[in-house]
Amino acid sequence: MRNLICGLMLGVGAFACAAYAQTSGLAFNNTVTGEKLNFDDALPEGRDTDGVKKFMQTGVNPYTEDKSCLKKGEQIFLSACSGCHGHIGEGKIGPGLNDAYWTYPENETDVGLFSTIFGGAKASMGPQYQNLKLDEMLLVMAWVRHLYKDDVKQAPWFSDVQKKNYKPYQHGETFGDDPPGSCKTVAK
Ligand code: HEC
Repeated sequence: MRNLICGLMLGVGAFACAAYAQTSGLAFNNTVTGEKLNFDDALPEGRDTDGVKKFMQTGVNPYTEDKSCLKKGEQIFLSACSGCHGHIGEGKIGPGLNDAYWTYPENETDVGLFSTIFGGAKASMGPQYQNLKLDEMLLVMAWVRHLYKDDVKQAPWFSDVQKKNYKPYQHGETFGDDPPGSCKTVAK
């Protein structure tokens, strides 16, 4: 939709399109301080994958519900997040990530969730930009979204099709090692 409006606005001029992008929510700010995030801090690898490029343009994580990304996202979650957030994101010393309640409501958007992971929040929720590549942040986000167990009506991050196909996460649900999809090839 955003792209469509942007496309239509190209008729008006590229400037209008860029201006729209800026006001369409693609502002990456620290979740707590509101300071603009600096992507120069990101790890040099995994910055320019097709997934990252698409995400930076649309603000929508292209890996959400893509089976080829979910397995990889699960592995990152288990090594980088579950110690604090629980095995299935049910909450531990960090809050639950698998329900409809967010301390920071901006985490309902992919841009917001990405910003929290990149720049951190309070207490032991440190910035992850030195731990995870940008592409890995998108992978782990896809897994966090997949762990969701509440009402799909409160999950604005899913597209209409994803909402239609939504089933609450079943503990123990697993995926093949490398099913076809946009994460099939090793991330650059
Ligand atoms: C060392 C412990 C620790 C690790 C590791 C950790 N977190 Fe957190 N996380 C926390 C704590 C504590 C908070 C609460 C911070 C706050 O309220 O400001 C939090 C908050 C969050 C929030 C905000 C939740 C809300 O309700 O708005 C998100 C999203 C999040 N973490 C995602 C992640 C992801 C994804 C990872 C793995 C890449 C991760 N965290 C790794 C401890 C951790």
